[in-house]
Amino acid sequence: MDFLDLVKTRYSCRSYTDQPVADHLIDEILAVGGNAPVGRGAYDSLNFTVVKSESALNRIREYSAKTGNDRTLGAKVIIFVSTNNMKNPISYENVACAVDHMALAASNLGLGNCYFYGFIRDMVQENAPQLDALNLPEGYVPLAALGIGHPDPSHVKSPKTELISKVKINRV
Ligand SMILES: Cc1cc2nc3c(=O)[nH]c(=O)nc-3n(C[C@H](O)[C@H](O)[C@H](O)COP(=O)(O)O)c2cc1C
Repeated sequence: MDFLDLVKTRYSCRSYTDQPVADHLIDEILAVGGNAPVGRGAYDSLNFTVVKSESALNRIREYSAKTGNDRTLGAKVIIFVSTNNMKNPISYENVACAVDHMALAASNLGLGNCYFYGFIRDMVQENAPQLDALNLPEGYVPLAALGIGHPDPSHVKSPKTELISKVKINRV
């Protein structure tokens, strides 16, 4: 897809069908995420965890639904992005770059997707037992994730017709 059309098409999807996401689509998204810009090229400070099995998804859902709503929004795959360098705030930037790259890759494949932050921050702050479901390598902490699935056709957002910045701009 043309890049500007892709940006017009991407939106945070919060309703999915039950159709599973094929592995080759997940692999393409991971390849894009793993080529996002990373400060000082410190790719080894990051880790992607693909959560796809029903058992692991259910443990994450169980935690995310503690507040009443399932904050995984019914995503069929969740890719967590973790860092082993919590002491350097650049890790937050690196994780965000990876998640955003994967969001655009997923949208380009026609997959719904949504950036997850809040429930992951809470899981880490509480050191929730459900973190075990990620089976992370020693020393890695999840900071964000991308939920992915086939979008529920009745909730698909129409692409924007034009791109106008929603962020205020000043020029000097
Ligand atoms: C850093 C960051 C954290 C976010 N956290 C969440 C989240 O935890 N849950 C959620 O449903 N959406 C989350 N979002 C999605 C935003 O709410 C969404 O991108 C924004 O409202 C703009 O809407 P759009 O993505 O449909 O264009 C997050 C987005 C970013 C960039």
